[in-house]
Amino acid sequence: MPRKSLLDLYRMKEKGEKIAWLTSYDFPTAQFAQAAGLDMILVGDSLGMCVYGYNGTVPVTMDQCLRHSEAVRRGAPDVFVVGDMPFLSYQTSDSDAVYNAGRFLKEADVDAIKLEGGVRIVDRVKAISDAGIVVCGHIGLTPQSSGQLGGHKAQGRTAEAAKLTVEDAVAVEKAGARLLLVEAVPPEVTAYITKTLTIPVLSIGAGLPCDGQLLIVSDMIGQFQAFTPKFVKKYSNVAEVITNAMKEYVKEVKESKFPADEHTYKMIEGEEAKFLKLMG
Ligand code: KIV
Repeated sequence: MPRKSLLDLYRMKEKGEKIAWLTSYDFPTAQFAQAAGLDMILVGDSLGMCVYGYNGTVPVTMDQCLRHSEAVRRGAPDVFVVGDMPFLSYQTSDSDAVYNAGRFLKEADVDAIKLEGGVRIVDRVKAISDAGIVVCGHIGLTPQSSGQLGGHKAQGRTAEAAKLTVEDAVAVEKAGARLLLVEAVPPEVTAYITKTLTIPVLSIGAGLPCDGQLLIVSDMIGQFQAFTPKFVKKYSNVAEVITNAMKEYVKEVKESKFPADEHTYKMIEGEEAKFLKLMG
């Protein structure tokens, strides 16, 4: 199957076919994502919390994002992969932004990059887009600036705040973004944005009325333990499955039940006697 392209995503929007998007951070999970029919994968800087155990996304580096993006691309060669620009990889200048966005394409073969912010980062969106790179905007709750937002809080909940969120969406599209992610805003605002923009609009915690949905894979499979945002639906409880498997292993090791006969190699016939003789 050929790799999913931006054009395919636009066709899906046109036909009203919803786009299914999950994060992934490693090779095996990316293989599962491709096998499950995901349209898009985000190698999110949420890997800081989900893989490295940081308290947030701010400490995440370009090199971490690149190495995880590479692994994901190897696991999901046919899926549309979005690399996530970590904190300080684009805030400093247009040229830093273009250079770092380009590294995602050169070193990890991603199809697009994502960066956080609305009106205030339009210059960066334009510079990266002008370099020929597909940009996915990210507005509403933007975790890299959660300090300024007063924490990981829903956005656009008052009429004034909703108007500012719409202005962010319009500005990012106008600057050249080809995709837009809206995080943690009420569905009424998402619906307005989706109706107003021509590019595919995707939601994480922003309700149903848009072109597709994103969830963090570690949340939806029940692996991430620290907290669960309101918008997460857990489709599995991998933490329980893994912990139970490990408990069983510990028990069997302690009781000398593992390894059993079928898990051990046999000596070639007649060699055991020779071995014992050799050893005196
Ligand atoms: O890093 C990530 O996974 C993200 C989501 C929170 C949207 O940016």
